Amino acid sequence: MLATHDGFSQPVLSRASLRVRVDVRGDPQVPAQRTFDLVIAANRLPVDAVTGADGKITWRRSPGGLVTAMESVMHGREGAWVGWAGEPGKAPRAFTQNSMHLRPVRLDQDDVVDYYEGQSNDCLWPIYHDAIVPAKFRRRWRTAYERVNTRFAEQVAKVAAPGATVWVHDYQLQLVPALLRKLRSDVRIGWFNHIPFPPVELFMQMPGREGILEGLLGADFLGFQRKPDAANFLRACRGLLDVTVRGDVVHLPDGRSVRASAVPISVDYNGLRELAGDPAVQQRAAEIREQLGDPKHILLGVDRLDYTKGLRHRLKAYGELLQSGDLDPSETVFVQVATPSRERLAAYRELRGQVELEVGRINGEHSPIGSTALTYLHRSFPRTEMVALFAAADVLIVTPLRDGMNLVAKEYVACHADDGAIVLSEFTGAADELSRAYLCNPHDIDKLKQTILQAMHDPPGEHRRRMRSMRRTVMTNDVQHWAEDFLTNLQAAPHKPKGHR
Ligand code: ADP
Ligand code: F6P
Repeated sequence: MLATHDGFSQPVLSRASLRVRVDVRGDPQVPAQRTFDLVIAANRLPVDAVTGADGKITWRRSPGGLVTAMESVMHGREGAWVGWAGEPGKAPRAFTQNSMHLRPVRLDQDDVVDYYEGQSNDCLWPIYHDAIVPAKFRRRWRTAYERVNTRFAEQVAKVAAPGATVWVHDYQLQLVPALLRKLRSDVRIGWFNHIPFPPVELFMQMPGREGILEGLLGADFLGFQRKPDAANFLRACRGLLDVTVRGDVVHLPDGRSVRASAVPISVDYNGLRELAGDPAVQQRAAEIREQLGDPKHILLGVDRLDYTKGLRHRLKAYGELLQSGDLDPSETVFVQVATPSRERLAAYRELRGQVELEVGRINGEHSPIGSTALTYLHRSFPRTEMVALFAAADVLIVTPLRDGMNLVAKEYVACHADDGAIVLSEFTGAADELSRAYLCNPHDIDKLKQTILQAMHDPPGEHRRRMRSMRRTVMTNDVQHWAEDFLTNLQAAPHKPKGHR
């Protein structure tokens, strides 16, 4: 059984959708006109509203790495977070969660379809991820993107104190920096991209491409996951705009200058270590192992169900290893956690169908009676449960075809002392820092298979050496370090409010 947030238990393979509920409270003591020195703007709030049939709202944790990272960063800091509450229609009223003041932004049904599903996730997302699936271009989506970005900028302008620091996140809000600067030239604006920034040859395909660059250049500082992402952005500015680029700085005709630089995101190392060391979590890890039949090897994958994550490549490799007899299903179990994501989009629905067909095929052909070669979990779990899974796994398999960072890889490192191993795609931001992982090209299935076997069968001493080295990296460069680094860069940026020369 897997424990839920509420302390109830669910069978490992329960079909019931598990909601990780969180406590929030409406706060009548926070007046609507209250302003904050630190404002976060992200497409989603850290929690999603779920309205029940009785009209009552419950809240669950929002999916994705952005929320994982920013929740840790904002813990204990006072500030406002402007974002969508995850459902179309009237926005819930502002409320507090821990020390954070949450200000929901309204998205109507057509905003969800055109701004979120359309422009953000059917156009920008594929273009920024190497066009793994073809991007679609619709004029209506671009109009909606402008409309919703304007709404975000207006909300931020209302909640930001004079001279506040505003931290805008991700590809959904690329126009916000310039729109906000027009409304509030006194605030300091930073933007961080959680996903890759594409090569100019791909970026150029997008209608309205100059508008995106101009939107971003409204910021004082722009942060990217990796140096090549920042370089791609600078190259796009040089090629498509009338600006001068020197080093990592874009000089604008109006005399402003904007730095674009790499600030790789990370995880809450200390928090995860503490959780992984908790006897109750260790006990859960042992229980999970036992429930899986106490196999010799547990392989684990943890991803949003997204075509960028290389799930099909991983399943193909695993299926072939079982087929060839290199892996024995009575000794090895693969657990794949695949978080539901963007389920109304065709590319995601198609992927889900393909993955579930393959899971069924692998289990049908290889599972021993009474156990499964592949345990597939299509739902969200509480943090403690995720840490117990990480702790239980002998090898983490991370095979994205393109990923800005991949926090899951760093979380696994933080949850292991000296044991464990990671098979890690070269096409993740994490591969730059976790160079002692078993690096792989997920497109090369034969090599991927060899790498999985090597990671499983290398001696404990080799695992120890690799994990220790990666642990030092994640410990030194944790999520707090990332936030400090970003904010220091932002504070150091030359800032010219309107009227200043
Ligand atoms: P992305 O931002 O693309 O989803 P990341 O790997 O950077 O990918 O971050 C994913 C985050 O979501 C990690 O913190 C991971 O632990 C968490 N996560 C992934 N799947 C689940 C799940 N099923 N339940 C709870 N948390 C999950
Ligand atoms: O950076 C990856 C990201 O797009 C984040 O914005 C978000 O945290 C995550 O993926 C989940 O995506 P969505 O908000 O579309 O469910």
